[in-house]
Amino acid sequence: MATLLDPALQNAIDALSLPGVTIGHRLISPGDEHALMPEEAAAFANSVTSVRRASGAARIVARQLLMKAGLAPCPVPKGSSGAPIWPPGIVGSISHDSRVAVAAIARRRDYGALGIDIEPAEALPPNLLDLVATPMERMEIGEDPWQGRLLFAAKEAVYKAVYPLDQIFLDHQDVEISFPLRRGVVRNGRRVDLRFSVSDHLLVVAFLRASDN
Ligand SMILES: CC(C)(COP(=O)(O)OP(=O)(O)OC[C@H]1O[C@@H](n2cnc3c(N)ncnc32)[C@H](O)[C@@H]1OP(=O)(O)O)[C@@H](O)C(=O)NCCC(=O)NCCS
Repeated sequence: MATLLDPALQNAIDALSLPGVTIGHRLISPGDEHALMPEEAAAFANSVTSVRRASGAARIVARQLLMKAGLAPCPVPKGSSGAPIWPPGIVGSISHDSRVAVAAIARRRDYGALGIDIEPAEALPPNLLDLVATPMERMEIGEDPWQGRLLFAAKEAVYKAVYPLDQIFLDHQDVEISFPLRRGVVRNGRRVDLRFSVSDHLLVVAFLRASDN
């Protein structure tokens, strides 16, 4: 399967340099829907082609990362909660926007949880800012719709990291992001570290180190 990359995004990913975390991406391409393995395809049986294509592209990336880690390429099915099911010893996360699919993996001995989110580098529609930002965050970012979009991505990344641990549905108001501290705090007290990457896409990685658990 050809590797289709966005050079600006690749540079931004390389600059993240989070030890022990491997991140990859792929430009979503016609035919990527066929990359879904039978164990994965069932969850997308009722999905439109664009959704199957994006999820197929993400699985191509996931399998490339698993191979890089010395593991055999295997299915990464979508569980009943929506969270991807990784092979034993691996934590990881998946995201896609309309153009790009990304995945991140790490060894469970090093990281307790990972979450990733990618968004186009576009302003958050102003009417969504009140929904996404807590009063404290609003003081930090004011009316800035660009930081609003980054906030949105950060909360989705936090959700993907903590859901497999806590199985709790979270609203945007249940997670408070601090950009200066590069941290998200969940209403139940969980603290998640964050790394941000800004290129032609906004990419956020949320993580808990194994020693934090
Ligand atoms: C999980 C969720 C955040 C995904 O966000 P999205 O912008 O729709 O889509 P993305 O492309 O970024 O991510 C999709 C991937 O998230 C992963 N995912 C879905 N549910 C998940 C869960 N409960 N836990 C961890 N990962 C999950 C899947 O791997 C999915 O990819 P796949 O369909 O190819 O398997 C969203 O669908 C959701 O369930 N939201 C409800 C909770 C929420 O958003 N609260 C506000 C933030 S705190």
